[in-house]
Amino acid sequence: MTQPGAPGPHASDGVAVAAERRWAVLVGIVIALLVAMMIFTGLHWASMPPSRVETVDVRTLHLRGEFVESNLGTTLGSDGKVTVRLIAQQYSFLPQCIVVPAEMPVTFRATATDTIHGFVVGKTNANTMLIPGFVATFTTSFRQTGEQLMPCHEYCGTGHEAMWGRVQVLPPAEFLAKARSAGGLACVPR
Ligand code: CUA
Repeated sequence: MTQPGAPGPHASDGVAVAAERRWAVLVGIVIALLVAMMIFTGLHWASMPPSRVETVDVRTLHLRGEFVESNLGTTLGSDGKVTVRLIAQQYSFLPQCIVVPAEMPVTFRATATDTIHGFVVGKTNANTMLIPGFVATFTTSFRQTGEQLMPCHEYCGTGHEAMWGRVQVLPPAEFLAKARSAGGLACVPR
């Protein structure tokens, strides 16, 4: 029952339509902003979503195949390609310290053994999520030499904030000399 003097059904319809339109415009602006950010980071920072899915068996990870302990760390292939293999587990990276060259393409291949982890190397675009059962891989190159911290950036349990590794970025000549030396590319004494 309509009270005398109260706005009729048509007047309240108008208010509702105006409110909906304001929200539609606001959401449109937010979507446009997110798309613009994706285009900007894609073009300016060369970041991109993962392009393929590669799986690995978590149960046999440490027993055989690519991610056995002796195969982790940095390798310089006979074709000159630099590959870093690492695994993440509660609450450490294996290896804890990684040696890479500056100004050369470096391919990371990594996975997790127990739960979701992730890492980012300093302020570079070397950044990925690590999911048990999947191999995360990307290729990047480091512009600056020096040591960078590599923290886990996915909450993985009570020890998450203490989970981090180190990355030593060496000048290319020094890296190549170290790769060919007897000591190999380890940066922590074993
Ligand atoms: Cu591993 Cu957080």
